[in-house]
Amino acid sequence: MNSVWEQNYKNGRFNEYPYDKIVSLVAHNFYKDENRNSLRVLDLGCGGGNNTFFLCEKGFSVYAVDGSQTSVELTNQYLKRRGLQANVVCGSFLDLPFESDFFDFVIDRQSISHNTESDVSKIFQELKRVLRKNGKYIGIMHHNNQELQKDGEKIGKFTYCNFKSGIYTKSGTVFFMDVSNISKILNGYKIDTLDRQLCTDFLKNKSVISDELAIVASKI
Ligand SMILES: C[S@@+](CC[C@H](N)C(=O)[O-])C[C@H]1O[C@@H](n2cnc3c(N)ncnc32)[C@H](O)[C@@H]1O
Repeated sequence: MNSVWEQNYKNGRFNEYPYDKIVSLVAHNFYKDENRNSLRVLDLGCGGGNNTFFLCEKGFSVYAVDGSQTSVELTNQYLKRRGLQANVVCGSFLDLPFESDFFDFVIDRQSISHNTESDVSKIFQELKRVLRKNGKYIGIMHHNNQELQKDGEKIGKFTYCNFKSGIYTKSGTVFFMDVSNISKILNGYKIDTLDRQLCTDFLKNKSVISDELAIVASKI
């Protein structure tokens, strides 16, 4: 795992609030459940705890994992300040420290996306192991977009690193999901919904600000 995240967190560079699309997808898929405390959710790549605390506040049984020790510390501090509790561990997405068939759902806000294509595929298989049957993956991934890739160094068909400028500087490895590839990478899942969120600068030259895929998929 890239130490760029450890450095970012040590420099105070992390998100404080939950990501709006994650909030709306979790609400849409899971708020109707009356017994939320019995639903186990994993925040994959918890960063500063911005999405972890939201899941705790909504009453789920929350677990979080990140490869950065500083992320784990930040997340635990953030939860403590808010009087919330979750099981937060340091570990690799490639070898998750959880039993098989354990989680009802997993959220991923741009965490898997910061791995090489072959690791992205392996991570989806590892997630399949820890998800129960019909358990859901709710994730936001970077979408394949040449305009966003132009400042990076290409290291694979859909993988870039060392961005010199733009939104991916200080982001280490960036994998861009292409829709032509999605069923191969999410092998063993059924895609429930797929939204593209493209933001452009409409007042200036309509240049692309961000391009993301919001994916909801169920383990078959
Ligand atoms: C872009 S940050 C996202 C953090 C958080 N989800 C948010 O919304 O701000 C990506 C996070 O995933 C973690 N990460 C990426 N690949 C990983 C891997 N293979 N194993 C463990 N952690 C990983 C990084 O340490 C980092 O904290």
